[in-house]
Amino acid sequence: MTHARIIGVGAYLPERILTNADLESLVDTSDEWIVSRTGVRERRVVSEGESTSTVGAAAARAALADAGLEATDIDLIVLGTSSPDHIFPSTASLVQRDIGATCPALDVMAACTGFIYALQHATASIESGRVKRALVIGAEAITRQVDFSDRGTCILFGDGAGAVVLEAGSEAGVLGIDLGCDGSGADVLIVPAGGAAAPCTPERVAAGEQYIRMVGSEVFKFAVRVIPETTMRALEASGLGLDDLTWFIPHQANQRIITAAAERLGLDDSRVFSNIEFTGNTSAASIPLALNDLYTDGQLNPGDVLALVGFGAGLTWGAAIVRWTKGYSG
Ligand SMILES: CC(C)(COP(=O)(O)OP(=O)(O)OC[C@H]1O[C@@H](n2cnc3c(N)ncnc32)[C@H](O)[C@@H]1OP(=O)(O)O)[C@@H](O)C(=O)NCCC(=O)NCCS
Repeated sequence: MTHARIIGVGAYLPERILTNADLESLVDTSDEWIVSRTGVRERRVVSEGESTSTVGAAAARAALADAGLEATDIDLIVLGTSSPDHIFPSTASLVQRDIGATCPALDVMAACTGFIYALQHATASIESGRVKRALVIGAEAITRQVDFSDRGTCILFGDGAGAVVLEAGSEAGVLGIDLGCDGSGADVLIVPAGGAAAPCTPERVAAGEQYIRMVGSEVFKFAVRVIPETTMRALEASGLGLDDLTWFIPHQANQRIITAAAERLGLDDSRVFSNIEFTGNTSAASIPLALNDLYTDGQLNPGDVLALVGFGAGLTWGAAIVRWTKGYSG
């Protein structure tokens, strides 16, 4: 059987840093509240001229360089995002243009689970024999959808992008994937206006409906429930158990969610990755950004087993179990 494995990793974070102290001057909040309730100390924010496609293209170039490939070597680009540059064309089309690729390209919109959904699409395309090499990207300029007068959401989010290159071969890298969706929770985390259901009118813009609306406590409970469930299902689909895991790499939404979910799984801190302190919630970019941090820090060794676990609006969730097959030369 043909399998997919990761042969390149890359990431990009915008230069501009927004600290909790900066947010104290925008809304009624405090560094102490934000750190204790979320774990976030700072996040990156796109500047004028940057967008989801520009950060996505930067991450894609880094992943291609790491794989030692040219953009024209890629057969498929799948990009997960919650903050596309436009409704159409897809952000993947813009990345394809900017990096000089010539292959089909599409966006996957599964909110913060977007990278796992994109990975599933690319993996299935490779396993079917239709695609030899795929670029899987998670990219966000999600702060453009954040209401910086809403203290319940503006403290959480940040921008960035991460990408991996998948290649077909006999060695199994992506072992098993579990995906899920419960559309009955669609209203819990939503950008109400800007799509076909509610086009942006002056009235809707005045009411701030183009920004993220979230019932934080509901999302919190949902996340702590689904993270362990989807992790266990993906492990089962891979024929593995919790003891086989080298790294648990959850979506970075809130440190308290990460800690509570890891406790439910019985995983001790040494196997749980977190970089939320410096990134905030970068939605579909968070998992490949986390993977890139571990990789460039020299913490991944061939044979390691990783659980990449996402959840988000939809409501959606998903987990991928990956056997690491690559060394890092720095
Ligand atoms: C948003 C979140 C941090 C709020 O934390 P919480 O502990 O649930 O806090 P609550 O919403 O219960 O609010 C508690 C109090 O803090 C206040 N508060 C909310 N945001 C605040 C802020 N930034 N600074 C200071 N106080 C704040 C609330 O107004 C509330 O005050 P009240 O008791 O006087 O009404 C938390 O619910 C969360 O992270 N949820 C998940 C969100 C998420 O992951 N979304 C993305 C999914 S991909």
